[in-house]
Amino acid sequence: MKDRSIEAARERWRELAAEIRRHDRLYYEEAHPVITDGEYDALLRELAELEAAFPALRAPDSPTRRVGERRDERFPPFRHDTPMLSLGNTYSRDELADFFARAARGLAIEDPDALGWSVEPKVDGVALSLHYAAGRLAAAATRGDGVQGDDVTANARGFANLPERLARPLDLVVRGEAYLDRARFEDLNAERAVAGEEPYANPRNLAAGSLKLLDAGEAARRGLSFVAHAVLGDALSPSHAGALDALADLGLPVVPDRRLCRGPAAVLARVEQLETRRDAFPFLIDGAVIKLDDLALRERLGATAKSPRWCIAYKYAAEQAETVVEDILLNVGRTGAVTPVAVLAPVVLSGSTVSRATLHNREEIQRKDIRVGDRVLVEKGGEIIPKVVAVLADRRDGSQKPFVFPEHCPACGAPLRFSEEEVAVRCENPACPAQLRRRLGHFASRGALDIEGLGGQWIDVLIERGLVGRFADLYDLTAADLLQLERMGEKSAANLVAAIAASRRRPWRRKLFALGIRHVGAETARILAAAYPDRERLAAAGEEELQELDEVGPVVARAVTDFFASDAARRELDALAERGFFAGGDEASPEAPDWLAGRTVVVTGTLAEWSRDAVKEWLQARGARVTGSVSRRTDLVIAGENAGSKLAKARELGVEVWDESRLAAERARAEGA
Ligand code: IVH
Repeated sequence: MKDRSIEAARERWRELAAEIRRHDRLYYEEAHPVITDGEYDALLRELAELEAAFPALRAPDSPTRRVGERRDERFPPFRHDTPMLSLGNTYSRDELADFFARAARGLAIEDPDALGWSVEPKVDGVALSLHYAAGRLAAAATRGDGVQGDDVTANARGFANLPERLARPLDLVVRGEAYLDRARFEDLNAERAVAGEEPYANPRNLAAGSLKLLDAGEAARRGLSFVAHAVLGDALSPSHAGALDALADLGLPVVPDRRLCRGPAAVLARVEQLETRRDAFPFLIDGAVIKLDDLALRERLGATAKSPRWCIAYKYAAEQAETVVEDILLNVGRTGAVTPVAVLAPVVLSGSTVSRATLHNREEIQRKDIRVGDRVLVEKGGEIIPKVVAVLADRRDGSQKPFVFPEHCPACGAPLRFSEEEVAVRCENPACPAQLRRRLGHFASRGALDIEGLGGQWIDVLIERGLVGRFADLYDLTAADLLQLERMGEKSAANLVAAIAASRRRPWRRKLFALGIRHVGAETARILAAAYPDRERLAAAGEEELQELDEVGPVVARAVTDFFASDAARRELDALAERGFFAGGDEASPEAPDWLAGRTVVVTGTLAEWSRDAVKEWLQARGARVTGSVSRRTDLVIAGENAGSKLAKARELGVEVWDESRLAAERARAEGA
């Protein structure tokens, strides 16, 4: 490292920082990580080492100094009086030994066995701070950047196991994790499979997403749970173990299987024992947490800017499982990239059953020499689809068959393009039904236009029946068209038509993302949409101009200009425009307060913070028409507590519904704007 020039170091620093930020975004904002925690930590560690060797590189906004996620503007902010720090991570006995040595030195203690440590499972959930006032749940907030998080109280009230009231009327701040238990996760995925929808990736991401739902009723339906692992202050007990026991006595769910261990050897033995019992917990665990038990000693050790010196996490390696590759299929993506996928004998891995693994590309199959019939080890990163980490070649019996990559698209038969410049193999037929299916799936997906009820199953049927051959065709569908389809009822048909119509009101950034331009993910779409407020302006932007945006590099700029220059895209966009897709100034969206102008709104149920008249007045001041009954012409229903038949009707008709917290968020936005 020393003989490395500062220029080379700076270059590498930039690369690493950009890479880490990208993964932060994928993990915290899109809840869609693509690398394992271990891989992420390795990047962060390399960055920290570079900064240690070249202190000049230590920028104030370096990823090494940040804790956790950005704020979510849709929720009110919540300030943590005591910051929610993150933890240092260790991966080996040696690193753990260093930690103990530092702690003993910090406390000037000679006999390491004199210190008592609590060893607990590290729950792979979403960090939450709960505030009880006089024994009542008063607030729940996410970590956010550690100092300011999101107020998700309404959703926390719907947790399956959280008491609204403690056994005694105490003021307490409790820290813990929100999680979705394995069984509930499997149930939710089974429901999705029935509806023909993609499964959720993993319980942690689903917990994070559920915590950030604006509809508290839906959040409650997901069935999140909470488990406490800390309480602030020493009012309950002078020791951690005593404090957690007291929390349990007050009626709170507390992290199970915590054990007090004296000295490093006992800690290590327990850490290893917990790893063998990973599957015994209702939540996923990704390691063990080791904390000094004596609160007064903790005080003496203190904390660094990022994490306490009295506590450390020991991370377990990603879980692996052994299974058999039963077949290798080709998957045609929405941009025509053809990816080989291994069909596996089903096996349980990190809390869910897996039966597919991505093989990435042709080279990967050759490099790892993966054959049909091979026994393999699979591992789950953050992705839905696990990967094959190794082939157990010594278990071959001669029946395994090497894979020959086909020369034609398995979906449409067009010749595949194998090129020198990229590893991906492509189907270049723009009319390929597999690509269309994926494009439509993406168009309707949650992060894009979120068209409820338009799952993969229906998309397949619509394509097969020739009802949909491009995005614009969706907007021509009538309930009568849909009713011809087998298993489509009147109510579902009406709902689907309403959901498709409502997708026109999504903000421009989501429409842009939905179009599925290569290299334009949700975040890039947001950046482009902010800089170019409508499609004409974006279409007119040149490559160089686009690159002036901070986050846009040559690859994205090229992909965007190529897209708008292509005849196929232009035809598609014009067809969408004719159907009112870009209407209303393109900024029209439920998220923009102006969206209310000219809309018909119904208010129902009891609101805690507003009188009915005050809401009406506010809505009318924004140009909305407030009426008394819900019909097909209603654009929005604001539903408070105990909303009855009007809410049910709104749901039936697929009308958008806001609960009170959403209303508050919109008001805050409107008034801040
Ligand atoms: S104690 C000062 N105990 O893991 C931090 N944290 O990666 C005290 N976590 O921020 C945290 N299980 O959100 C503690 N048994 C446990 C935990 C736990 C999960 C989370 C927590 C922490 C994060 C660090």
